[in-house]
Amino acid sequence: MTIHLKDSADWQAIYAIYVEAFGQSAEADLVRNMQNDGDLLLSLTAYNDQPAGHIAYSHLRLHEIPSIKACVLAPLAVVPSFRQQGIGAQLVRHSLERLRNGGYDLVVVLGEPHYYGRFGFDPKLAEKLKTPYDGPYLQALALSDQGKGAHGPVSYARAFAELN
Ligand SMILES: CC(C)(COP(=O)(O)OP(=O)(O)OC[C@H]1O[C@@H](n2cnc3c(N)ncnc32)[C@H](O)[C@@H]1OP(=O)(O)O)[C@@H](O)C(=O)NCCC(=O)NCCS
Repeated sequence: MTIHLKDSADWQAIYAIYVEAFGQSAEADLVRNMQNDGDLLLSLTAYNDQPAGHIAYSHLRLHEIPSIKACVLAPLAVVPSFRQQGIGAQLVRHSLERLRNGGYDLVVVLGEPHYYGRFGFDPKLAEKLKTPYDGPYLQALALSDQGKGAHGPVSYARAFAELN
């Protein structure tokens, strides 16, 4: 199977992916709101002959160490008919490489440790942060030595406040 990853703000594709994956539009709305607010820093769509998956990242501010360049991975989805074929992993690995090359120090995600652990995300590192999502599903990945020292309160992009 050939998968192409594209930097994309093709809303029709993004909307279709999230509605198919989650049965609702909240995650697609999150991406659009982040884009409208200027908080979307990476939006990648995986295509086969049709849109198969999407991943997005937004800015995260660390109040006590603003010099740490941090971001949030959310949302991520692969449509059901394309799952279990490594597309999710391709989206995560490719985007993390882009962020590392772009000088990012830290990535935070809320999700299943069984899934995100394979990419190096660790709940222990996230325990040092103070977020609205604290708990066992919050994980962090340091992309640099500076990222390993992340701690304290953070601010997510405004669009997250509209999710429930
Ligand atoms: C999670 C998701 C993006 C994975 O996409 P994918 O292309 O199937 O992923 P990959 O092929 O790279 O990896 C498949 C692995 O993910 C695991 N996985 C899938 N969904 C999972 C979940 N909700 N929790 C834990 N593990 C999950 C599978 O069990 C499989 O594990 P294995 O490699 O040990 O067999 C996709 O299943 C999805 O869109 N799910 C619904 C939306 C969602 O839950 N998104 C947020 C993720 S927290």
